[in-house]
Amino acid sequence: MKFAVLTGGGDCPGLTAAVRAVAYRARSRGHSVVGVADGWKGLRDGLWIPLEGVDLADAIGRGGTILGSSRTNPFARPEEAERLLATFDGAGLDGLVAIGGDDTLAAARELHRRGRHVVGVPKTMDNDVAGTDWTFGFDSAASVAVEALERLRDTARSHHRALVLEVMGRNAGWVALATGLGGGADATLLPEEPYREEELFRHVRNAVQRRGYALVVVSEGIEVAAPGRVGEHDDFGHELLGERGVGAFVAGRIAAGLGLETRSAQIGHIQRGGPPTLFDRLLATRLGAHAVDLALEGRWGTVAVLRGESVRGVDFDEALGAPKRVPAEWLDLLHTFDA
Ligand code: F6P
Repeated sequence: MKFAVLTGGGDCPGLTAAVRAVAYRARSRGHSVVGVADGWKGLRDGLWIPLEGVDLADAIGRGGTILGSSRTNPFARPEEAERLLATFDGAGLDGLVAIGGDDTLAAARELHRRGRHVVGVPKTMDNDVAGTDWTFGFDSAASVAVEALERLRDTARSHHRALVLEVMGRNAGWVALATGLGGGADATLLPEEPYREEELFRHVRNAVQRRGYALVVVSEGIEVAAPGRVGEHDDFGHELLGERGVGAFVAGRIAAGLGLETRSAQIGHIQRGGPPTLFDRLLATRLGAHAVDLALEGRWGTVAVLRGESVRGVDFDEALGAPKRVPAEWLDLLHTFDA
């Protein structure tokens, strides 16, 4: 068989490891794989990256995606969708492995509905894909954010300040949760909960009284009237939340409300760069290999996911339920450590 593999949506650590796993698994079973450059855009325009004979051994630890990516939605415009289908059919492919988050997997489902052979692999630093327990990219991104918080702690402690760290994650608070819990924040604000200013002030005040500084983690997706750029959207209709400046907004409220010297930091795409953690390397490798197994079993229209300790295939519809948000149990644990 001849498979194609593409990576779509925002890059994250582990994508290259997943592509590598697809290539190795297919090769080891006697099949061939070609890469597609820049996500759906590449499949639409026929941009191929040869993977046969390419040594991918050291690609396990590479950040980003060796195939390139884009946030192109191929089904947003009918003429582009037709072009993509024609390219797919003309390339002599037996199937496609689409690696991506909700948007990429929804486009993969549409391709499957239009009669093409597709399997999916979930990824995203946001960890919000419904059908899988964890997505690769999340552990690496949150680890970077925890390190950033630890660095901010040094300045907060030295200058007796309140420091606010804004992290990504879109409308799910997983990255903020992991950063707040893993980095020992005094308060963590997530999109899953309303903005409660008096509560926030109480935690910051307690921390400052106790040890002279405070650390606050804020998810980019919280609902506040931040003054930054609003209303800009990507090809899939998602607002660019990082442009709103919610971290700076919260820092300003703390400074005004408590009279503390306060600073904010937004680490943005720094969270998405760098090598994958061991957890992400292993998860990406398992899911990439399993996607090939699903294809070889003829289980088109499925997505390789992690459930507990096992990888398995579930239908696109199951994988693409409502984006997974932080549940009450995690929130309860998180707030156990508020100052
Ligand atoms: O979905 C991953 C993510 O990093 C989100 O956390 C963030 O809101 C968004 O992508 C940023 O998108 P872009 O890379 O297009 O600015």
